[in-house]
Amino acid sequence: MDFKQEIAACVAAQTGVSAEECAGYIEIPPQKDMGDFAFPCFKLARILRKAPPQIAQELKASVALPDFVASCEAVGGYLNFFLDSAKRAEAVLREIDAQGERYGATEQGAGKTVCMDYSSINIAKRCHIGHLTTTVLGNSLAKIHRFLGYNVVSINHLGDWGTQFGKMLCAFKHWGDRADVEEMGVNALIELYVRFEKEADDAMQEEARAWFKKIEDDDPEAIELFSWFKDITLKDVAHIYDLLGITFDSYAGESFYKDKCAPVIEELKEKELLEFSEGAYVVKLDQFDMPPCLILKADGATIYATRDLAAAFYRKQTYDFDKCLYIVAYQQNLHFKQVFKVIELMGYPWAKDLVHVPFGMVSYEGETLSTRKGHVVYLDEVLDRACEKALSIINEKNPDLADKETVARQVGIGAVVFYDLFAGRIKDVDFWWDRALNFDGETGPYVQYAHTRCCLVLAKAPALDADKADFTRLADEAARDLVALLEAFPALVQEAAEKYEPSVITRYAAGLAQAYNRFYFDNRILGEEEDVMQARLLVTKCTRDVLKTALGLLGIEAPEKM
Ligand code: ARG
Repeated sequence: MDFKQEIAACVAAQTGVSAEECAGYIEIPPQKDMGDFAFPCFKLARILRKAPPQIAQELKASVALPDFVASCEAVGGYLNFFLDSAKRAEAVLREIDAQGERYGATEQGAGKTVCMDYSSINIAKRCHIGHLTTTVLGNSLAKIHRFLGYNVVSINHLGDWGTQFGKMLCAFKHWGDRADVEEMGVNALIELYVRFEKEADDAMQEEARAWFKKIEDDDPEAIELFSWFKDITLKDVAHIYDLLGITFDSYAGESFYKDKCAPVIEELKEKELLEFSEGAYVVKLDQFDMPPCLILKADGATIYATRDLAAAFYRKQTYDFDKCLYIVAYQQNLHFKQVFKVIELMGYPWAKDLVHVPFGMVSYEGETLSTRKGHVVYLDEVLDRACEKALSIINEKNPDLADKETVARQVGIGAVVFYDLFAGRIKDVDFWWDRALNFDGETGPYVQYAHTRCCLVLAKAPALDADKADFTRLADEAARDLVALLEAFPALVQEAAEKYEPSVITRYAAGLAQAYNRFYFDNRILGEEEDVMQARLLVTKCTRDVLKTALGLLGIEAPEKM
């Protein structure tokens, strides 16, 4: 039941202003004594040519209140509505009960495709903690969009192009050993590259260029080695994706576009957008207050932006997206502004559907990332450590728990993901173990724990029967707050999707867990009279479902016991 819409409809009937417009004005008052919903009359003052307080008074006298509204008051220019808590609870809880974990889901995205470019790791490099946000933020946005009916195409736009791969191939041919690389994985590739940078003489530099040319020209040997380097990297990173429960629909990375850049460059020439300037071919963007977008080096080599142009065209043709999101750190703000602008200048109206979703940086226990100072914190190590730490907490708190390793993974990973997605995405995140893994406060484990509490109550209770529930017994403050929060969930999912901001859901989940805990300590459930118990059990079941859904949308699992 959408209370707001219903209230809007009854106000609309008295004013001649559309219900839709009225719904847009309705607010949730900042204080409970101002009602559950408030209709501000200020916007109507002009249309009706009356003072807002007068409109409020007249409306109070004339509106036919829907049956779930207990009373309404005119205060200044506001009309405040107080809901009947029993009727509100019944409507909200029955709806959630019927929809279960699909409560809040919609079909608004049916028939629409959203491409999402996230994680997008670099080949022959090890993922450090800086790759955490793009990966978990992208995953969460993918889940939120699927929940709203969109067809999501998740793309890992691999960083697998550049002259460094020629160097790596050359180094491998000189010093490498297959078995060694197979065993050591990416670290072996990094070592080869570092050694090349230290030891390569002019002859080797020349050779490296030749190897890169061979990759460009599809030479079988070069391609075989290059693909193998990629496999090695993806095998390493698979551990991270497994822990996080993440999969991709496509791994088409930069090298995939090597033969798809030429048509774009042709078109740029035809449309007279390409200019030779300071030793490179560029698209000038002065009029838009941006430096030129580099397209080709003097030797004809493409660059990062060229491949992003080709990728945008390829995605549009292949997936016919309604939107294409790039979940990439804010350091690349300018890059994406330039790329999107170039596509707009080429005359494609869908340039407006390309969206850069930037986010802040992650530092680790107070230290920003710096390879130079040797403070590199690898992502796989952070995740493994999270699982270990969670396991030791479980061993301490609940040593007899079944399947401890699985639960430890769910809790450890949940802690890291929740922490990363808690603040607004543009904020820099400073990662601290004791904060992330704290079982109290606004953390993943705290929310997961509230979920297990609901599961436990339900497991111990007799069968739930909503028809036996006495909804008038949900009138205490804790119950009312909890119902109001449950009611708010679908709108918050919408907000998270519109703003590309899973933190809306993260903060909500923490609030919901807290509200349930309060309800649980204020109210006895088991052993109460049947009608009271059933009402409280129903609240418990609905809370469990919404907590699970919310965590799921963040990419976090909800164990039943922990
Ligand atoms: N591999 C790049 C990096 O680590 C991110 C790629 C983002 N996606 C894109 N289409 N440019 O910085």
